[in-house]
Amino acid sequence: MKKICVMGLGYIGLPTASILATKGYMVHGVDVAQKVVDIINSGGIHIVEPDLDILVKAAVGSGKLKAALKPAEADVFFICVPTPFKEGYRPDMRFVEEATEAIVPYVKKGNLVILESTSPVGSCDDIIAPILKKTGLVIGEEVFIAHAPERVLPGHILKETIENDRIIGGINDRSSQICADLYRTFVKGNIYLTNARTAELAKLVENSYRDVNIAFANELANICDELDIDVWELIALANRHPRVKILSPGPGVGGHCLAVDPWFIVDSVPQKARLIRTAREINEARPHVIFEKVKELAKKFKKPVIGCLGVSYKPDIDDIRESPALEIVRMLMKEKVGEVLVHDPYLAGHALEFKGTELDELLSRSDILVLLVNHTPYYAIDKKLLNEKALVDTRGIFRK
Ligand SMILES: NC(=O)c1ccc[n+]([C@@H]2O[C@H](COP(=O)([O-])OP(=O)(O)OC[C@H]3O[C@@H](n4cnc5c(N)ncnc54)[C@H](O)[C@@H]3O)[C@@H](O)[C@H]2O)c1
Repeated sequence: MKKICVMGLGYIGLPTASILATKGYMVHGVDVAQKVVDIINSGGIHIVEPDLDILVKAAVGSGKLKAALKPAEADVFFICVPTPFKEGYRPDMRFVEEATEAIVPYVKKGNLVILESTSPVGSCDDIIAPILKKTGLVIGEEVFIAHAPERVLPGHILKETIENDRIIGGINDRSSQICADLYRTFVKGNIYLTNARTAELAKLVENSYRDVNIAFANELANICDELDIDVWELIALANRHPRVKILSPGPGVGGHCLAVDPWFIVDSVPQKARLIRTAREINEARPHVIFEKVKELAKKFKKPVIGCLGVSYKPDIDDIRESPALEIVRMLMKEKVGEVLVHDPYLAGHALEFKGTELDELLSRSDILVLLVNHTPYYAIDKKLLNEKALVDTRGIFRK
């Protein structure tokens, strides 16, 4: 297996493609966005991820990684395209379907197709396999299909792509084995084999587990607000119990994964996934809770200036997908709660409907400071500057 075609060159596809290229594979990367293809072919990157620029430059420079708009023949096809939800929190598998359709003319006998995108249970069997049947090849005998879910942490993707343990679930044992053999050539973590459906659910469960635990912390924050108790002190004290480890509350849960994947379980078994649904609802309501808090504080000022720190969905990355911070900023602007100033170290990379404000200016002009994302530079803000401001610190970084 020497030639690899990677469909989708985003946060998952591009690191995977460049790691494979530096391992000696000939990698043909495919993206539907011309801009993405051009940037990668010039040796650059279109996303923020530490050290990825160096790796992509090396991979493209060596001639082992090329990007294109159309697929090409290969031994292995990776599908790394988005899997968002659509109306009614239903999985939107359009991109997976399109990417699979696109490879049909190039898939030959003996090829392996790997679905890396986080997908609802049954995607390999009910979406990928029926589309690949159009090749005329016998599924599971002449063309192999497996799900190898990604569990990387943005900001650490290169390290985790190689070091994390992996679950590989084929549509049959042979597919699992062939897929595992490939991953063993670039993954140092343990590889665990299962069937496709279990692998699909395993990934969704991992993210739902995190979401449910964050919902518990967020519910505590809501309870503490009502009871006038400092939630950060409460959690720190409760966590002194040897078997208690409560997570931190925040403005909500964002990103392409935690805010989306639990809905894939709810969608397939709505009557059974009651806790998972409730957790989603608690986390989805958090931006409104924070918004109401700021709105209440704003009533104390004649012409309130509200300084919002951070728009990404988590610290030190540029990703704004499903970001609760951005949702809060937009609510404050839409409801005209005051003059809203926004700072984020990565704002320049986004074409948003508002402009950013320099941090110094935001800090000096704001009556209300709303800390939404704990980006590293915010820890260095001089606490004296905060004394005369109303504070809504959703991450607890300005506590005395
Ligand atoms: N980002 C993460 O941290 C992370 C972690 C684990 C799993 N995942 C999962 O991995 C998958 C990909 O996520 P991502 O963050 O890389 O998304 P992304 O949006 O960063 O990248 C996806 C890329 O696919 C391209 N694309 C869309 N349709 C295409 C098609 N038909 N053919 C070729 N390219 C196409 C898009 O233009 C985009 O560049 C999702 O299922 C996501 O849930 C992501």
